[in-house]
Amino acid sequence: MPNSENRRLEPIRIVAEGYDEIADRYLDWSATAPVRLRYVERLLDLLPSSCDVLELGSGAGEPVTRRLAERHRVVAVDISSRQLELAAIHAPQAQLMLANILDLAFPRESFDAVVAFYSLTHVPRSHHADLIERIVQWLRPGGLVLLTMGGADNPGSIEDDWLEAPMYFSHFDAATNRALIQRSGIRILSADVVEEDARDAGARFLWVIGRVD
Ligand SMILES: C[S@@+](CC[C@H](N)C(=O)[O-])C[C@H]1O[C@@H](n2cnc3c(N)ncnc32)[C@H](O)[C@@H]1O
Repeated sequence: MPNSENRRLEPIRIVAEGYDEIADRYLDWSATAPVRLRYVERLLDLLPSSCDVLELGSGAGEPVTRRLAERHRVVAVDISSRQLELAAIHAPQAQLMLANILDLAFPRESFDAVVAFYSLTHVPRSHHADLIERIVQWLRPGGLVLLTMGGADNPGSIEDDWLEAPMYFSHFDAATNRALIQRSGIRILSADVVEEDARDAGARFLWVIGRVD
């Protein structure tokens, strides 16, 4: 494989191997995280019944995929096979896909909502604008996004011991992310920086809910 292709895949490989190793620990650590629960309920309030929902980086499927799949048809994508094994237990109704978010291709207007809870911040930020453009294409008119994005600037870093495995992170700050969303044609309904609770003290994410017209 050429060096440039190796460099492109390196962060993705770190994330995939990392989550294969820590999936069970991450599930215990995050099980009762209140912010995520609040936002999934907000999205459910906005969606009409029986929608097509794409979830990017679904993880173990608890609680987000499970809650979504109780009411909607869900395609849940993740790059970690262990995460998808757990998602199959928690959200058996969802259609699970082992794939890199960056390699996805769907026909235009396939979904009523696209959600990404804490996954985009593992994708090198040079891809974020392009990915958001593609998400917009996949949405039907009136479709919704719910995205957890970075609250602070991080061009790309590896934490050697994140829940006992190496993990890759990359994101823009909140103002840049808001601008990126607006440029893509998504109308922002809310975009707030929210601090995590004690288990991830100091971490701040931008929570975006938006609509394409
Ligand atoms: C922090 S976990 C969050 C999981 C889940 N959304 C939740 O809230 O519990 C991030 C998830 O995104 C997945 N992920 C990260 N980068 C990805 C990529 N490029 N393609 C597919 N999945 C990815 C990881 O494997 C992991 O399961």
